[in-house]
Amino acid sequence: SRSINLAVIPGDGIGQEVVAEGLKVLAAALPQETKLETKEYDFGAKRYHATGQTLTDADLAELKAHDAILLGAIGDPSVPSGVLERGFLLKLRFAFDHFVNLRPSKLLPGVGTPLAGSPDIDFVVVREGTEGPYTGNGGAIRTGTPAEVATEVSLNTAYGIERVVRDAYARAQARPRKKLTLVHKNNVLVHAGGLWTRIFQEVGREYPEVTTDYLHVDATMIFLVTQPERFDVIVTDNLFGDIVTDLAAAVSGGIGVAASGNINPSGEFPSMFEPVHGSAPDIAGQSKADPTATVLSVALLLRHLGYDAEADRIDAAVRTDLAERAGGPARSTVEIGDALAARVAG
Ligand code: IPM
Ligand code: MN
Repeated sequence: SRSINLAVIPGDGIGQEVVAEGLKVLAAALPQETKLETKEYDFGAKRYHATGQTLTDADLAELKAHDAILLGAIGDPSVPSGVLERGFLLKLRFAFDHFVNLRPSKLLPGVGTPLAGSPDIDFVVVREGTEGPYTGNGGAIRTGTPAEVATEVSLNTAYGIERVVRDAYARAQARPRKKLTLVHKNNVLVHAGGLWTRIFQEVGREYPEVTTDYLHVDATMIFLVTQPERFDVIVTDNLFGDIVTDLAAAVSGGIGVAASGNINPSGEFPSMFEPVHGSAPDIAGQSKADPTATVLSVALLLRHLGYDAEADRIDAAVRTDLAERAGGPARSTVEIGDALAARVAG
């Protein structure tokens, strides 16, 4: 019989509420014989205020001993902007080499979109997770003078590009449409864009069945709104991917349903699964948050660990629930979690 050793980080604000529902659905989805062991960690604003710590080397060593990590949301207005983002979230992504930041966008029946008609949206963004301008490679000089200089250098290694591009090709190959779009800005960012473009073409020779396409990131913004059907798999760098996936979430049902995985495909480190949304302190503690994004992140987690049938059942339960929810009265966080758990179990 199998077992899952899961680190759970509810975090701040609605993170606590949505993670409770995610765990409920996870427990309901797993077969009896699979042993689920969870250990909760108190990372986030409270711990930061109490100890001044965000994520220590000892924390990382403990987290590393798990099969996967489920995260709610980290962030609170009481902590200066950027402290927890960099000190916790980015630190974890970098330390555990989460180079594939996987963000699927699928417009499900009954879910609203600001786009006209009912576009057929079903694509996944493979966002690079460990490089780009996120590495802290930059600095400021002549601070406080009129000649002050600030740089934020985008780091792009051939190794880092190749491994994420390869992962994206493999994902495209496994999907019915087998189409992969590279998003960059290689008409202006010639050094980084040139390297991405060249490696994209080189790796593509190993995937003759995959149709490839290149788009500048600005044009991508237009097509995501006017023609989202054209996308199947998108691969892009860390910062472009951050921006692309917010618009992708907005057109395909909003952050209430946007799930993500921070994946280390080699399995050397545990991968981390989290809803794309933040801690939403304005609605925290009111059971108003939609736990669906967390539940869909749990499905990504299960798929990553090889529990495909269980992940399929969760996806199907969410699909039915969203269709039935449409037009009905607003339900609480717990009501939605209960309904999904009942569907998955039943
Ligand atoms: C995201 C977030 C993070 C990012 C922030 C909070 C550091 O926006 O997960 O998309 O930029 O990656
Ligand atoms: Mn973002």
